[in-house]
Order: sequence, then C-alpha cells, then structure tokens
Amino acid sequence: MIIAIDGPSGAGKSTVAKAVAKKLDFDCLDTGAMYRAVAWMAQHRGVELDDAAGLEDIARNCPISFGRDGGAQTVAIDGVDVTSDIRTATIDRAVSPVSACPAVRVALVDQQRRIGRAGNYVVEGRDIGTVVFPDAEVKVFLTASPEERAHRRVRQNVDRGVGSIDYETVLADIIRRDDIDSNRAASPLKPAADAVHMDSTGTYIEDVIDQICALARQKG
Ligand code: C5P
Repeated sequence: MIIAIDGPSGAGKSTVAKAVAKKLDFDCLDTGAMYRAVAWMAQHRGVELDDAAGLEDIARNCPISFGRDGGAQTVAIDGVDVTSDIRTATIDRAVSPVSACPAVRVALVDQQRRIGRAGNYVVEGRDIGTVVFPDAEVKVFLTASPEERAHRRVRQNVDRGVGSIDYETVLADIIRRDDIDSNRAASPLKPAADAVHMDSTGTYIEDVIDQICALARQKG
C-alpha cells in the first residue's frame, strides 16, 4: 500500500508521515530529502543551479540512500552522510530551482517509484498523489497557514541546531518557496483530485495521524 502525503513546506508532513508509518508498521520515504540531497551535491561540486545537464547527472548517477541512526532517519548521497547538511538555509534556498528542473524530477521520480513499490510506504512530498503514485490507496493534502508553518519551522530549526531561527526570515522563505513550488511548470504543488484535504492549523497533530491511519485501515 502507498499512503501519499503532499503539501507545502512546514505543514507537518514529516511528523505525520513518521507517526503514521510507525503505527501501521510501514516504511517512510521523504522525497523532499532527495531534492535537497541533489541541491547539496550541486553546491559541493560547484554545479550552477541553472545547469540542467549537470543537475540531471547528479540526480541520475549519485545514488541517494536512506539509513537509520538509532531511531533517526539518515540520508546519504554517493556514500556521503548529508543528514544535517541538507537542512541549512543555503539548501532551503537552492532546492526550489533544483526541483523545478524537469530532468531532475524524472530521475528522482524513477527512484521514488522503485523504492515505494518494494513494500508498504508512507511517501511525503509535493507531487506524490498527482505524479509519482497516482494510484496510491490513500492520498492526503496537508496544509497549515504560512504563519503557523513558520513558527513550527523556527522551533524545528532550534531543535536541530540548523537553519534560520528568525521568524520573519523563515516566514518570507516559506512564502517564496510556496510560490515557486506552486507555480513551476513541472509537477507543481497541487492536491490530487481525489486527495483528502486536512488542515493542521490549530489542530492536534495526533488527530491528523489518527484520521490517516483510519483511512488506511479502510483501504486495507
Ligand atoms: O519537503 P521539503 O521542504 O524538505 O522539500 C524541499 C523542496 O523539495 C520543496 O520546497 C520542493 O521544492 C521540493 N520537492 C518537490 N517535490 C517533492 C518533494 C519536495 O519538488 N515530491
């Protein structure tokens, strides 16, 4: 089974995806981490963000792998652990142009389908219900107000010790990324026609988690 969770940055997708996967004994795939890993490798190698061929080469030929360090998920690209390096403000800025590159998307969507088809997965991203797994058994479009998302991202950055902790800076970045992600030509952020809409503003995240588990049990 595939449970697709799409939505803008900071809506709570990662928290919800991890909790749902734990409750249902599914695996979890964070597709945003894959775009971030490509952005990180581009910076590492000095590939410009408008160099489509260079970005495609990274997405096709640098394997991205997920691992575990205790309870935490880790991300590596071409064997280099980039778990915290992909969460910096620099990568926040670089990732939208990288993910707007159609050739990068084709390469990563191939990998995402290969991973997801190997088992039961909660897959989170922007285009999972629309493009990557249009036949997903459960599709959720999770949103929250930009202000709430900015507050959450600041708290997350404080906890992780990476990224900006200035609310206005984080809010401006969220609004800018929403705009690029929603208006790009290649697989823009939008809900699938058959997605269940959930808004996590001012609601307990546990309620969202329980609703998604209930939807999955109905399909199972
Ligand atoms: O989810 P996260 O904020 O880590 O995603 C980082 C960026 O990756 C997003 O702003 C978006 O540009 C891109 N992305 C995407 N498609 C996905 C997942 C993420 O374009 N399925």
